[in-house]
Amino acid sequence: MAAMSYAQSTLFSKPALLFRSFTFSLTCSSFSTSSALSAHSSRRQKWRQPVVSALDLGGVKIAKDDVVRDDPTNNVPDTIYAKLGLQLHRRDQHPLGILKNAIFDYFDTNYANKFDKFDDLCPLVSVKANFDDVLVPPDHVSRSYNDTYYVDSQTVLRCHTSAHQAELLRKGHTHFLVTGDVYRRDSIDSTHYPVFHQMEGVRVFSPDEWETSGVDGTLYAASDLKKCLEGLARHLFGAVEMRWIDTYFPFTNPSFELEIYFQEKWLEVLGCGVTEQEILKRSGKTDNVAWAFGLGLERLAMVLFDIPDIRLFWSSDERFTSQFVKGQLGVKFKPFSKFPPCYKDMSFWINDSFTENNLCEIVRGVAGDLAEEVQLIDNFTNKKGMTSHCYRIAYRSMERSLTDEEINELQWNVRDQVEKKLNVVLR
Ligand code: DAH
Repeated sequence: MAAMSYAQSTLFSKPALLFRSFTFSLTCSSFSTSSALSAHSSRRQKWRQPVVSALDLGGVKIAKDDVVRDDPTNNVPDTIYAKLGLQLHRRDQHPLGILKNAIFDYFDTNYANKFDKFDDLCPLVSVKANFDDVLVPPDHVSRSYNDTYYVDSQTVLRCHTSAHQAELLRKGHTHFLVTGDVYRRDSIDSTHYPVFHQMEGVRVFSPDEWETSGVDGTLYAASDLKKCLEGLARHLFGAVEMRWIDTYFPFTNPSFELEIYFQEKWLEVLGCGVTEQEILKRSGKTDNVAWAFGLGLERLAMVLFDIPDIRLFWSSDERFTSQFVKGQLGVKFKPFSKFPPCYKDMSFWINDSFTENNLCEIVRGVAGDLAEEVQLIDNFTNKKGMTSHCYRIAYRSMERSLTDEEINELQWNVRDQVEKKLNVVLR
């Protein structure tokens, strides 16, 4: 992947069973059901929290017990439940809301009243909607418990806004934009967070639109798509150099990524393509062609607003929130001060079911947003075939200095839970 590794990249741009994200190593993607189950079974003994709240999500009332369950088919931790319904993309003074509105402006200017906008669709979706309806193969790594949050075996927290494509097409929408929070189990660093935001766009053409043009429907849609998205990139980034990269997505053919040259690097902006005919056919649109795109809002907002760490989007510290103004794209964020990180290493003998995502979930569960990075710094296998990993955890608050005492306590908690929940042997 030529683009820089910047905030969550598109997920499906590799064929089945390859990595879902280029920061992954092969071992991380070698998921097995037993690993998921063993990680979950430890949760079974967990104290059950009483229902503390019910959220209104996309017009549906959802109680905590509907999302977090002591059940082997559920892997949603409390920390993730706590993010549901926050809808950062619907705040006009938040960088994600400002960016969303700037994209809306582009579509409103160029296609007045054409695109239907959805930004309040419920993030709990069926496995069918999230994967099957957009033709994600049955063995694709993104379906694993290691990568996706399952509420039960048939329900997930959407891992992309593409989860709404098929339903909206079935309902007869032909031009639409879907913005929403999406959820992925992932590693910990300054550009990865288990909740982030995407926008999906779809446009359907009818035969009379391309028949007079002399090119076939697919070519017509592909060139319209490129023109539309190049215009969007210029609207957001100014007169930048761009390039199109051929890629693979299960839901489009041909598929492309758009990259722009920005701040001396090639930055992947979005994934897109001509919608697979099968998706249109299943929604009753046999004679049409369509294009679709998906983009990650954090990835773009981080470069547009100079936001150095993805955790900042979740900060309610006024020194962050007060810097952004409704309607002003690209105001540069001024860090209020940089507090020192504290590094703690831990080594253990892994087992077959160990995954970095499971480790990171424990670290986030204990340290929350104080966890800045979890990095594998040593990895070896001894003569007996036992493999040892050493992880370096960086703790840092965006808002204050941490005391030695509190970091030590966090680290002891992490060690304790890693040992118990992951069944590894600490060294
Ligand atoms: N759903 C993809 C992802 O999360 C992004 C994407 C790529 C959406 C291509 C699309 C598309 O609609 O056509 O990685």
